[in-house]
Formats: sequence, structure tokens, C-alpha cells
Amino acid sequence: MNDGDVILQIRALYKTYELGKENLVRALRGASLEVARGEMLAIMGPSGSGKSTVMHIMGCLDTPDQGEVWLEGRRVDKLKRHELNRVRSRQIGFIFQGFNLIPTFTAAENVALACEYAGMPRRKAKAAAARALTRVDLGDRLSHHPSELSGGQQQRVAIARALVNEPAIILGDEPTGDLDTINSREIMQMMRDINKSTGTTFVLVTHNPEVAAACDRTVCMRDGAVLADEECRPD
Ligand SMILES: Nc1ncnc2c1ncn2[C@@H]1O[C@H](COP(=O)(O)OP(=O)(O)OP(=O)(O)O)[C@@H](O)[C@H]1O
Ligand SMILES: [Mg+2]
Repeated sequence: MNDGDVILQIRALYKTYELGKENLVRALRGASLEVARGEMLAIMGPSGSGKSTVMHIMGCLDTPDQGEVWLEGRRVDKLKRHELNRVRSRQIGFIFQGFNLIPTFTAAENVALACEYAGMPRRKAKAAAARALTRVDLGDRLSHHPSELSGGQQQRVAIARALVNEPAIILGDEPTGDLDTINSREIMQMMRDINKSTGTTFVLVTHNPEVAAACDRTVCMRDGAVLADEECRPD
């Protein structure tokens, strides 16, 4: 991989959580990883191995104690809060387990909000939201509230929200974790199609071997570090 092909790189990340003076949780202990532009990467590993912590730091939602994060050739781990917000809203999309939709907003309003965060005027945001929802086959559900949608449909709204600002990279923390097998396959297929048609890079934390198998590459985490491919074993 030459440098031009790397969209995201983490170098020797360390993160310790303090739960009182006596109780230190060393969540990351030298985690390093390179993600190629356009690839779909799965991160697996046991509970507590640091997967969500790494995702939060890669997504500029949290900062490491030590180490570096590079996104599209720019170091982002030491940016000021307003710069981080800008990177986060324009360059990165997020999909979480549990969907994280606002219950009192319609599908279209949930998606449009992400555009407004990124500085788009309201009317344009509305149009962009409708386009993104159509992209995930929800063009006929714009005015539905999350409670009026199935789990799979809610996760498709979350995908539309992640996509709408055309980010370079979409990070998913167990995006199929709350879905049954059929919906999980459908969501995975949809992300795969988006990856192929738009070139958007995906990094997905998953416990589901089927999801990992549909990705281009899988890495594993153990004890706060990313293992080399050959050390990777099923949980
Ligand atoms: N905000 C926090 N405060 C204190 N400890 C935390 C915090 N977040 C995570 N930890 C601890 O850091 C370690 C790594 O947690 P993390 O959430 O990254 O694991 P994970 O690999 O995502 O696990 P899972 O598969 O269960 O989601 C765990 O021991 C966890 O208890
Ligand atoms: Mg987690």
C-alpha cells in the first residue's frame, strides 16, 4: 500500500480510562492500523478488546492519550474541538447498533439534520435527505417516524444519514448487531453496493462472521491492539 492509497491510519494508539484512582482500564495498548481508500474492512475481536474505543478515536469522537490518527493525509488527533466537529460532520459517517434516530423526527428530518450540522441550508438538506433515503429504497417512507419503521428500515435510515454528506469513510460499530439474519444480510448487501458504486470506504466492527466474510479484509483486536492477519483467529 503506498501512502496515496491510505485513507485512514492509526499509529500506536494508547487510551486508559480511569475509574477511580485504583482502577485503570487500559483500553488501547499500541493499536495500529491502515485502511485503504475504497476498501471495506471488518474489525473483529472479543468483548472489551478495544474495538469501540478505536472506532470512537478514528471517528474523532474521542482522543487518544498517545499515538496519531491520520485521515486523508491530515493529522486529526490533536485538532481543536470546532475543527474536529467539522471533520466529523463532513468527512465521516457513522452507523451504530441501535440506530440512534431521533424518535420525534421523521426519517427525512433525521437525515436532513446531518446535512444541517454540516452547514447545508435547510431546503437543500431536505432535498439531499430525500435523495439519500431513495438510495436506500426508502423513498416512500420519508414522512415515517422511527417507530413506524421496521428495525431493518430504521438501520437504512441510519445508513442514509451516514451517506448524505458524501463522507470519505463510514464507520459502523456493530451495524447489524440488533438485526435478525435476513435484515442483517440486506443491510450488509446495501453497504456493499454503496461501497462499490460510490467508492466510500467502510470500517465495520462486527461479531458476525457472515458480515466479516462479505468485507474485503478482516483484522482482529486483542487486549487493546490490532493483531497481524496471521494471528487472527475466530473469537
Ligand atoms: N467510557 C469508559 N470508561 C471506562 N472504561 C471504559 C469506557 N469505555 C470503554 N471502557 C473499557 O475499555 C475496554 C475496551 O472497551 P470497548 O468498548 O472498546 O470494547 P469493545 O471491543 O468494543 O467491546 P464489545 O465487543 O463488548 O463492544 C473495556 O474494558 C471497557 O470496559
Ligand atoms: Mg464495542
